[in-house]
Amino acid sequence: MSNTRREFLGQSTTIAATTASAAWLYASEANADDKAKSDPNRLTVAVIGPGGMGMGHTNLLATNSAVRVAYVCDVDEQRAARAAETITKGSGQAPKIVKDMRQVFDDKEVKAVWIATPDHWHAPAAILAANAGKHVYVEKPCSHNLREGRLMIEAARKNKVVMQVGTQTRSTAHAIKGMEKLKTGVIGEILVAKAWNSQRRSTIGKQQPSEPPKNLDYDLWLGPVTYRPYQSNFLHGIWRWWYDFGCGDIGNDGVHDIDVALWGLGMKTHPTRIAALGGKSFFDDDMQHADTQYIVYEYAAATKAGKPKQLIFEQRIWSPYVQEGFENGNAYYGTEGMMIFGKAGKYAVYGPKNKLIEESTGNAPDLAAHHANFLECIRTGARPNADIEINHLSTALCHLGNIATRAGRVIHFDPAKEQITGDSEAATLLTREYRDHWARPIV
Ligand SMILES: NC(=O)c1ccc[n+]([C@@H]2O[C@H](COP(=O)([O-])OP(=O)(O)OC[C@H]3O[C@@H](n4cnc5c(N)ncnc54)[C@H](O)[C@@H]3O)[C@@H](O)[C@H]2O)c1
Repeated sequence: MSNTRREFLGQSTTIAATTASAAWLYASEANADDKAKSDPNRLTVAVIGPGGMGMGHTNLLATNSAVRVAYVCDVDEQRAARAAETITKGSGQAPKIVKDMRQVFDDKEVKAVWIATPDHWHAPAAILAANAGKHVYVEKPCSHNLREGRLMIEAARKNKVVMQVGTQTRSTAHAIKGMEKLKTGVIGEILVAKAWNSQRRSTIGKQQPSEPPKNLDYDLWLGPVTYRPYQSNFLHGIWRWWYDFGCGDIGNDGVHDIDVALWGLGMKTHPTRIAALGGKSFFDDDMQHADTQYIVYEYAAATKAGKPKQLIFEQRIWSPYVQEGFENGNAYYGTEGMMIFGKAGKYAVYGPKNKLIEESTGNAPDLAAHHANFLECIRTGARPNADIEINHLSTALCHLGNIATRAGRVIHFDPAKEQITGDSEAATLLTREYRDHWARPIV
């Protein structure tokens, strides 16, 4: 056993009991001689959850000379191996492979982590990482429930770490240009913003509990979620349609569009009233979240002289037909005009009498720019473009919209206390029950 490996195992005594077999612990012993390890210009980082989106991050990080990916961490052995291969090919350096994220957090060399696990792991992992002093890039929606988002903000601030959320449109040059245009007052005062998500998803079928695959540590995949037996239509990726693990498509693609709606509307608080209709109109399967959803969020006027504002969200995940030219997009309604903004990289501004004022085409959501912004903020200590506090507001809209959809009645919300008022049943959905587990989120 090399010194490096022995030292590493020594450091990780807190998790020795759950450590994977030694053979699986390392992609390569060659890592001990890793030249990049001593390169002070490279930030030592880790990727946690290199699945669908996590591989998007892995592909970029593998060839980013600003970082050295020291670990890939996945509870699925096959996915971890695939990611390690990508890093090795791209950077010439083999990362360590682990399945328990505490091994990453225990390593003082690691300065930042990318977290692309399913939603139920976002807050637990991000809080543990922040408490270990790591800067955090965590995928959207930032949390699985509203309370977790608040805990994430507290963890980031208490530990003075950067916490960037994966809404990469916030770092996309063309979107920034469009939002700057709105700020000039080109369409007057914006009273209503709309976001929509229309596309054709696949059915998740109907399944019964079965044995998890051998390459998967299912108990670690569940984490602090109350135990329930494995079903093949939980993963990969399909977990997002289940209440226990995901937030539905509003928290998946919808949160990108909601975030851009909120950005243009310029709201820095939560809504006070939420009304929603929706449910399962199309799919006849195990999917629990709505496939069809219409939500109106109302923001109380900020001052006596101010006006209330509304954000509208519309979703059909069985219909790929475009609205205003886009599957995913936004409309901003101002007192003197309107703007249509397509996620794919186009916007159009209309003035009085629907006169076209400006049309612009630019780049689609720019993941590399979002990575660069995160790394820059680690260097400068500035708040990132999709800081946890910004995304908490957008992700909270997903949670409140889902709560109103499930309750089937208007929800009243106290933005300062982050509490639902007058509806104790709906209020229970602002958090969740966790099992007794080391990753149970606490700050
Ligand atoms: N920013 C974007 O544009 C974008 C796009 C797609 C997905 N996402 C987000 O990325 C996240 C992942 O989505 P996905 O579709 O890639 O899901 P996925 O199921 O394909 O990938 C999740 C990965 O995390 C692993 N994992 C689960 N628990 C883990 C744990 N405790 N430790 C380490 N690894 C663990 C799984 O084995 C899997 O490989 C979601 O939050 C999703 O919303 C973001």
